[in-house]
This record gives sequence, C-alpha cells and structure tokens, in this order.
Amino acid sequence: MIPLTVARIAEITGGRLLGDPAAVVTGEVVIDSRLAGPGGLFAAVVGERADGHDFASAAVAVGAVAVLATRPVPVPSVLAPSILVGDVPAALAALAAFVARSLPAVAIAGITGSSGKTTTKDLAAQLIERLGPTIAPAGSFNNEFGHPLTVLRADPSTRYLVLELSARGPGHIAYLCGIAPPRYGAVLNVGHAHAGEFGGLDQVARAKGELAEALPPDGVAILNADDPRVRAMAARTAARVVTFSADPGSAAPVRAADVRLDDLGRPSFTLLTPEGSAPVALRLHGAHNVPNALAAAALARELGLDLDGIADGLGAAVARSRWRMEVRQRADGVTVINDAYNANPESVRAALDALAHMAQDGRGFAVLGHMAELGDTSRASHEQIGKYAACVANSGLAGLIAVGEEAAPMLDGARRVRSWTGEAVAVPDGATALDLLANRLKPSDVVLVKASRAAHLEGVAAALLGEAGQ
Ligand SMILES: Nc1ncnc2c1ncn2[C@@H]1O[C@H](COP(=O)(O)OP(=O)(O)OP(=O)(O)O)[C@@H](O)[C@H]1O
Ligand SMILES: [Mg+2]
Repeated sequence: MIPLTVARIAEITGGRLLGDPAAVVTGEVVIDSRLAGPGGLFAAVVGERADGHDFASAAVAVGAVAVLATRPVPVPSVLAPSILVGDVPAALAALAAFVARSLPAVAIAGITGSSGKTTTKDLAAQLIERLGPTIAPAGSFNNEFGHPLTVLRADPSTRYLVLELSARGPGHIAYLCGIAPPRYGAVLNVGHAHAGEFGGLDQVARAKGELAEALPPDGVAILNADDPRVRAMAARTAARVVTFSADPGSAAPVRAADVRLDDLGRPSFTLLTPEGSAPVALRLHGAHNVPNALAAAALARELGLDLDGIADGLGAAVARSRWRMEVRQRADGVTVINDAYNANPESVRAALDALAHMAQDGRGFAVLGHMAELGDTSRASHEQIGKYAACVANSGLAGLIAVGEEAAPMLDGARRVRSWTGEAVAVPDGATALDLLANRLKPSDVVLVKASRAAHLEGVAAALLGEAGQ
C-alpha cells in the first residue's frame, strides 16, 4: 500500500483511533492473519465461521503494525494502534478509493461476466505485465473484501490494476466501480451463475452491464459480440466499444479463426486483429477459453501491447488460479481434469465438452456435484446437465457419478437419453465416488471432477492423483 499514518487512515475511514497516530502502515492490508506481514494493516472481519477480532494478536505477532476493527481487540494499543469503525468493508472501500485516486497514473481495468472472470483476469495479467508493473492477484478477489484489498496493493510503482468484479445482486458492480473507477471494462458473458439470486438472465445482464455504465467517455468497453446480452451493453456505455468474437466471420475487430483442440483439449487458433493475424496455442484446456483469451487480447491491445506480444503472451500464459480445468495425467495413463473450483450450467457444459474431446480414445467419467444458487430452476438445471452429459459425447461418457442429493436429478436427465449406454450412479459423497471409480478406471480413461465450491470435490481430484487432500 502507499504509506499512510494511522491518523490518516482513521480520517479516511471515519474511524476512532486508539494508540499512536504517527504509526505508519507500509505493508499489505489483509483480512487473514496468516497472510499478515511486516508493516501491514490487519482488518478484523466477522465471518460465518470465524471472528477476525480473535486473530488480531496473531497478525500483530507476525508484523502487522495496526488493526482495523469494529470493536477493541485484545492487542495493547502501544503494541499496535487500532482504528475502530462501524463497518469494515465500508472502511476498506473508503481506503481503497483514496489509494486509487492517489495514483492517477494507474490504468484500471475491470473484468466481469458469469463465467471466466478469474481465468481472463489471469490471462490478461500475463499479457499486461509485459507493459509494466501490474497488480492482479491469483484467485477470485472479486467482492466487497477482495476488490478493495487488491486495489490497496497498488503503490506508486504500479502501472496497471486488473480487477475481477463479481455481482450477487444489482448495484454490486456499480459499488465496486465506485471504489476504483475503471477506464477499461470487459464483459465476458451473461449466464446462470447466481441467476437464482438475480431472478433471471435479463437481471444478470442488468447487473453485469453496470461495468459498461461506469466507464468514462475516454474509456473502452470490451464486449463479447457472441453473447447478445453482452453485445447489447454497447447501448449502455459512454465509452468506445471494442468487441471480440470466436466467430471469424463476425464484424468484431478481435476474432479467432481456425479453432482446433489438441488431444488434451488445448485450443489453438489464429488471432485476427485490425493490425494483422498471428497463431496462438493456449496452454489452458477447453474451447471455452478461446473467448477468455480474446477478451484478454482485446484488453492488452487497448493498453498498447502489440500483436506479437499478445500472441506470444497468450501462448506462454499458464493457469494461475487453482482447480479451473487443471489437467494431470497419472502414471497409469488415466487423465484427471480438476475443475472443482465452481460450477454453473454454462461451465459444466464447457467442461463436459472438453471431457468429450479428451476422451475420444478412451472412456470419459464425469464426477459432478451440485450447481449452487440456481433458485427455483435448480432441479430442472441438474436434469438438463445430466441430459447434456449423456448426449454430448454421443456418448463416450462411460459413467456419470452425481455426488450429493442436489446433484442426483442429473441421473433422471441422463437416463432419458435412450441412446446412451453409460452408467449413471448417485453417491452421497466424494469418498464413495472414489471407491466406485477405483474399480472402473483403466489406462486412457479421462475423469472430470466438477461441482460448486461448497461440495469441495477438489479433494476427489487430488485423491485420484494420489495427492494428499487439500
Ligand atoms: N467462457 C466460459 N464459458 C463457460 N465456462 C467457463 C468460461 N470460462 C471459464 N469457465 C469455467 O468456469 C469455471 C470458473 O472459471 P473462473 O474461475 O475463471 O470463473 P469466475 O467467473 O472467476 O468464477 P467466480 O464467479 O467463482 O469468481 C471453471 O470451471 C472454468 O473452466
Ligand atoms: Mg473468479
């Protein structure tokens, strides 16, 4: 963070200071005491499982010089001053807004969409880092905590901030854009993630489009021309619009042609831009990463990276955030796709497509947990996914293993596909899924493991690979 005295932090956040006003915060602002470091500020957050106030001493013990909290913490203020505020997320937002406005030379880019924000942010970061110092942490720092914490990492050496913006309701993205106003904004897609909370896809589009609305007239809105709800956001922005498309015949300036997948489902394509074309071979798995790569390319292009830098950077970019289409091969020739970070109808279909492609020479097994937050459509959505799984490979899918009660309706969908000859099984938990697979897997089989976060199926993928649980 830019160095600030605790007195100044108290002023910015409207907090009450206990302790030495001249103490200076020079390090990172964190909400996890295990991540605290020398010179840092520890913000105590009351979560569902833990109360950050209980960890203030631990943070100070490893170097935090001050604490932001809603009530006094058991750390003597001579050891570390405290700033007491009514609302920690609001205080973090105020502090982040101050830092963002103190660094006018930083180009701020926001990325939103229902699926692929983290992947695109990671790809974009690996391109933009070629232009100068960039802040874009691995992982999904995209909400009222992660977003300001990311902004607070910026300092005078920072040139680019690449931010992931998420919404669970209307106004969330507008709020995040108010903290660190982006000049560049990319909207990837409008899908069913959290659609239950929003009430439907049009409501999701309204919320995601808040990013387009927040952009200034001298900004750039990067929009997916292949998604009609995203394309329509062109009417909601004052910024210049630049579209991207995975359809080579599209009028979008940034496009992909000749998309092919290798045996491990890694796409290669010809990147078409107004400046020319270049071959790109991604290290990421799944055709759905083509639009993500195009969005990252369009953003880096606007920031000034040339075509060679973009093509080279996309080819060199790795998956920085874990459990998104992580593909590993076992010694016995079984391939495991760990896509257990999260799940919604679009991302499960994308993963099943990749599985079908990768299992062409063997058999595919899909271990699928539930897709959360789909509201009233939950049961029907799980049935449709089961049907899709049975249809997609026409069907190389040898086994569909639905984990947990909420995922079980997938089996009804799959069984409705008469031509599918695979096996459909419902199991209560990951351990049972593992037992079942142990007797079935043969060399050249491919296993996809995917579910919403709450199911924690990444442990199943780890166990399949013989790794300790994570
Ligand atoms: N364009 C896409 N279409 C469909 N699925 C995608 C797309 N991009 C990524 N995915 C899949 O969606 C899942 C989540 O990817 P990622 O973490 O990049 O998305 P996110 O939008 O950041 O998610 P979250 O809302 O949890 O932060 C992964 O399984 C990934 O493979
Ligand atoms: Mg994310």
